[in-house]
Amino acid sequence: MRAARTLLALAGCLAAAAVAAEPTQPGQQAWRTEPRQQAQPTEQRQQTLVRMVRQDCGSCHGMRLTGGLGPALTPQALADKPLASLAATIVHGRPGTPMPPWRALLDEADALWIATQLQLGFPEEPQVQVQR
Ligand code: HEC
Repeated sequence: MRAARTLLALAGCLAAAAVAAEPTQPGQQAWRTEPRQQAQPTEQRQQTLVRMVRQDCGSCHGMRLTGGLGPALTPQALADKPLASLAATIVHGRPGTPMPPWRALLDEADALWIATQLQLGFPEEPQVQVQR
């Protein structure tokens, strides 16, 4: 028991040391090249994004995102596509196709979150209780 505690404490110290070792100099933005590590949208923003994708994107990509005017956005359909390129398609659209750019409504972190969720299987909208 005592040994386990010591180990846990040790692991805690190591984690703290690792955080302290993160580069903090201004201009040191190497992490930006790894999109997975970008800040995620807040919980509340994520709910907005789920609603938006289900409603606005669903109008072309299908209610179940299984395809319509736009192609299916299911995990199977997107499995081999790089996240960064999916996110870029969402932000910039595909000129010459009906896929519009969404940069006025979505930033890159939003688009990356959406692309990630699409590859995982997009969350359903929570059931909204209409109270009148
Ligand atoms: C007006 C119709 C329309 C709307 C609205 C729309 N899309 Fe699209 N989308 C398309 C079409 C058409 C394509 C295929 C473009 C092509 O031929 O390359 C596409 C392509 C994509 C792709 C690339 C798929 C792949 O297999 O490479 C992604 C990702 C995507 N859309 C996400 C979205 C998201 C997220 C939204 C909502 C924020 C959205 N789309 C809204 C029409 C639409």
